[in-house]
Amino acid sequence: MDEIMRKLKVMYTEEQIQKRIQEMAEQLDKDYQGKDLIVISVLKGAIFFSVDLVKKMKTPVIFDMMQVSSYQGTQSTGNVIIKKDLDEDISGKDVLILEDIIDTGYTLQYLKEYLQTLNPSSLKIAVLADKKERREIDVDIDYTGFEIENKFIVGYGFDIDQKYRNIPYIGYIEE
Ligand code: IMP
Ligand code: MG
Repeated sequence: MDEIMRKLKVMYTEEQIQKRIQEMAEQLDKDYQGKDLIVISVLKGAIFFSVDLVKKMKTPVIFDMMQVSSYQGTQSTGNVIIKKDLDEDISGKDVLILEDIIDTGYTLQYLKEYLQTLNPSSLKIAVLADKKERREIDVDIDYTGFEIENKFIVGYGFDIDQKYRNIPYIGYIEE
C-alpha cells in the first residue's frame, strides 16, 4: 500500500454513492420526461459518475463527452482550454453537463458559456460533489450529489496527478 492509500479515509462508500446517484437519476427522469436529452460528460473524472448515472436513468440519452483543462498558473484562474470538443450538434436540444466536482467554479463557468453559444434549448448542470466553500465565481448548479467540506477527495473518478481514479469509493486525505 502506498502512502496515499494508507492515509485515505472514507468519505462516501460505494453504497452511499450509488444510492445518491439513484435518487439523482429518478429526479432527472422526472425532469426530462419526453425530452431529447444530450448529456455531456466532462472527461476524465466525471466519466465514473456519468456512466453510473445514465445507466440508472430510464430516459434515453445521447451521451457525449468534452475534455477541458485549465492552465496551471500561479493561481487558479479562468484560463480554460478545450482539449476535446463535442461530437453532437446540441442546437435546439436539451443539454445536461455532467461534472465530477465544482470547486472554484471556473471550469463549469467556462463550459456553460461555451455551450450556451451553441444555442441548446436548455442547459443544466449536474455535479457529483460541490465544494461550496471554495467557490470564486457564482455558477448555478441544478443537481448536486453531495455538498462536501473543503477537503481534497480521491477515488471514484477523483485523482491526484491522474492517479487513484479507480478507487471505488470517495476518500479524503487526513492531514
Ligand atoms: P474548478 O474549475 O475549480 O471548479 O475545478 C474543478 C476541477 O478541479 C475538477 O474537475 C477536478 O478536476 C478538480 N478538483 C477540485 N477539487 C478536487 C478534489 O478534491 N479532488 C480531485 N480533483 C479536484
Ligand atoms: Mg477534473
